[in-house]
Amino acid sequence: MYKIAVIPGDGTGPEVIRESLKVLEAASKKYNFAYESTILDFGGERYLKTGKTLEDKDIEELKGYSAILMGAIGHPEVKPGILETGILLKIRFSLDQYINLRPIRLYKAEFCPLKNKNPEDVDFVVVRENSEGLYKGMGEFRNKGTMDEVAIQISYNTRLGIERCIRYAFEYCRRRNKKNKLTLCGKTNVLTYAWDLWERTFNEIAREYPDINIDYAHVDATSMWFVKNPEWFDVIVTDNMFGDIITDLGAMIQGGMGIAAGGNINPEGVSMFEPIGGSAPKYTGKNVINPLAAICSLSMMLDNLGEREAAEAVEGAVIKVVRTKLKSLSAGKMGYSTQEVGDLVVEYL
Ligand code: IPM
Ligand code: MN
Repeated sequence: MYKIAVIPGDGTGPEVIRESLKVLEAASKKYNFAYESTILDFGGERYLKTGKTLEDKDIEELKGYSAILMGAIGHPEVKPGILETGILLKIRFSLDQYINLRPIRLYKAEFCPLKNKNPEDVDFVVVRENSEGLYKGMGEFRNKGTMDEVAIQISYNTRLGIERCIRYAFEYCRRRNKKNKLTLCGKTNVLTYAWDLWERTFNEIAREYPDINIDYAHVDATSMWFVKNPEWFDVIVTDNMFGDIITDLGAMIQGGMGIAAGGNINPEGVSMFEPIGGSAPKYTGKNVINPLAAICSLSMMLDNLGEREAAEAVEGAVIKVVRTKLKSLSAGKMGYSTQEVGDLVVEYL
């Protein structure tokens, strides 16, 4: 019996989560697994009412679940940063979800903004380190408020943190078994402390994986190649900040935020699955947001729980909906409502 914590969150989060739960229910019947879901109301509304984001006791409660499914966090009336650090990053860090896994897959050529690129050209995965780097929040102000002010933001990288991330990426690449190529995306030419350690660790661990071809690309060049030659990539491993940036670019070449899914993974603990995109407040309550990113996140969750067959079937149903039904992957332009897209996935499943 899987215990699923569901955090619909803010804006269009609840709408896309409703569709994911419909698909989860259908998948559990078809693939014979049992689950129970608990809806938790963390998010902007609750914060505005109670002043609370996520307390330590909430983290303890989350540790009791098999997985967490999240809609979106971000509320127009809450100052940027409060919900992000108080809820999203707090869960990632406290549950030590040290991998942010972001598959970049184009399901239909016409949804790609790049010329002459087909689904086989845009099919790679970014393994983003999710617990350190610039996201660690280390730094200080000096002489705040004066003309001599200095703001220092530290990128914190540990050997252990880097090593567990790189090891995960090699294992993932091997299991994926496509091009068997792992690219380290960094900035060794400028960030000579952090990326020296990343590169040394990468090269050392690579010796344990002679079946995987290794490659290195600077983050700026990686961005260029996402657009020019996305077919060069198979699995990419990178730090927290670079991973954040390149996966938004990745989301665009796979057809947009409407389809981009991700998982915050603790391979030894509780993982959380969420669309890459935000809460899209302007579409809230209109039944026009694309639920497929959330449904693809659900598919990733099923895979993580060990329900591989169900995970593949859900992704397969999404692919069929994208290829045969949708006019666009963007909110309001799909040719179907949020609920209808969810229904189509269930039908094809
Ligand atoms: C993401 C988001 C988050 C991040 C924000 C909302 C804190 O952009 O999941 O990519 O920067 O990691
Ligand atoms: Mn981001």
